Amino acid sequence: MVDKRMLTPCGEQEREAAAGLVRDWNLAYARSMGHSRGVYVATFGCQQNQADSEKLLGMAVDMGYRPVETAEEADLILVNTCAIREHAENRALAMVGEYKHIRERNPDLIIGVCGCMVSQEHRRESLRKSYPYVTFTLGTSSLHQFPRVLWESIEKDCRVIRSECPEDMESEVAEGIPVHRASGYRAWVSVMYGCNNFCSYCIVPYVRGRERSREKADILREVQELVQAGYRDITLLGQNVNSYGRGLAEPCDFADLLSALDAIPGDWWLRFMTSHPKDASRKLIDVMATGKHIVPTFHLPLQSGSDRVLHAMNRRYDMAKYMDTVTYMKERIPRLTLTSDIIVGFPGEEEEDYQATLRALEAVQFDMLFAFIYSPRKGTPAAGWEQVPPEVKKTRYTHLMEVQDGISLARNRELVGQVVRVLCDGESKTNPALYSGRTEGNKSVFFAGTEAMVGRFCQVLVERVEPYALHGRVIDG
Ligand code: SAH
Ligand code: SF4
Ligand code: F3S
Repeated sequence: MVDKRMLTPCGEQEREAAAGLVRDWNLAYARSMGHSRGVYVATFGCQQNQADSEKLLGMAVDMGYRPVETAEEADLILVNTCAIREHAENRALAMVGEYKHIRERNPDLIIGVCGCMVSQEHRRESLRKSYPYVTFTLGTSSLHQFPRVLWESIEKDCRVIRSECPEDMESEVAEGIPVHRASGYRAWVSVMYGCNNFCSYCIVPYVRGRERSREKADILREVQELVQAGYRDITLLGQNVNSYGRGLAEPCDFADLLSALDAIPGDWWLRFMTSHPKDASRKLIDVMATGKHIVPTFHLPLQSGSDRVLHAMNRRYDMAKYMDTVTYMKERIPRLTLTSDIIVGFPGEEEEDYQATLRALEAVQFDMLFAFIYSPRKGTPAAGWEQVPPEVKKTRYTHLMEVQDGISLARNRELVGQVVRVLCDGESKTNPALYSGRTEGNKSVFFAGTEAMVGRFCQVLVERVEPYALHGRVIDG
């Protein structure tokens, strides 16, 4: 039986009231047990989801939970899911499946499945039917409803698996949500939510609702506080940041917002993602060219080099328009790092379309490329079209990545002998003898470092490069 109920609107006061009830419940537990309940958050998907997870954790901590390192130690597990490709959904479902065993050992365990996957009715339905140990679901637009949904499940000892409130999907932006940031020097700041573009392959507009922008004053305040608190690398997030500001009472477009943020004093980097090529304006490029904190880095997803495929994808630009933007960027921003996304094997993609994509890669010379094999998404137009055979998709993908490896290597070779500014992240995960960090263009750099350098900028002389890594020597740090 499908439960057709929806969440009802929930304001700040209601959220606070519910959070208070959970807090008291947790406090009573901590007093009697001598330790507090643990919360564990697993995150799939894009930076937007990572930012959402920091809010979920922030709300959980505010309600008296203690963050723990593993799911086994937790009394509350949140799985923040992604729906962009089938693989992402399968991984999240497999993880939820694993938690069954933890729940068997701890019947009081609460499991919440959040994010883009559960904003789809068929996924909520399968969780309801096949995963009876999942306590609640929380779609992307209902994130701020977390305290209320959690308290309802605790108080009534029931499951809460409902669709999102239409107002949340269409018009609401919840402010004032506590954030528990994973890093003390890199931060995400959402400037807008949702997407109105409906690219024919993409699930995002269906699971994240309509475009809603945050007020400029709220964003300014958040970024000011972060810079003052010592954050060095701040990324503004939105599915299409160039649409920022539509519908705001006081007119402000994304370039205006960037200019205002760039005026915040301090030693820090400002970056943003993602820009849609159909409306990456010259005004925006000019603001970047003259900015003090805005890094000369652009992520401009191309998706395909074939005009025919771009049209079928409903991207609303062609290669000529894309190249025009890239040429202007390269002219105005000398140290430009340019990255992109490509989908291989979109329905109807012929060999000649694929060749056009390869030619586009050669023409643009991206520094880095995120390539994806097309994955049909239920409810999107392209899912119903004639599909490219899986082996063709795979062959094209592997070959495309080989071509890009050569281009990325050539781009990185231009940096050999140069000094790059790096924000140090700490010991490298792949080679513990070295430290790693990122350039303003988000390229990974490996060098001999010390703990004192973590979260700080240093200068590295680039000595050796690979397609996706730079190696060098710190010359001041
Ligand atoms: N808003 C961003 C992209 C968000 S999704 C933009 O418009 O650029 C990130 C990337 O996932 C997309 O750029 C696209 O390359 C890829 N993607 C989206 N849907 C996909 C699908 N159904 N199959 C494969 N890749 C997909
Ligand atoms: Fe998806 Fe297109 Fe929106 Fe990006 S712009 S989130 S690819 S619909
Ligand atoms: Fe995935 Fe949702 Fe991001 S579908 S890519 S987590 S917007």
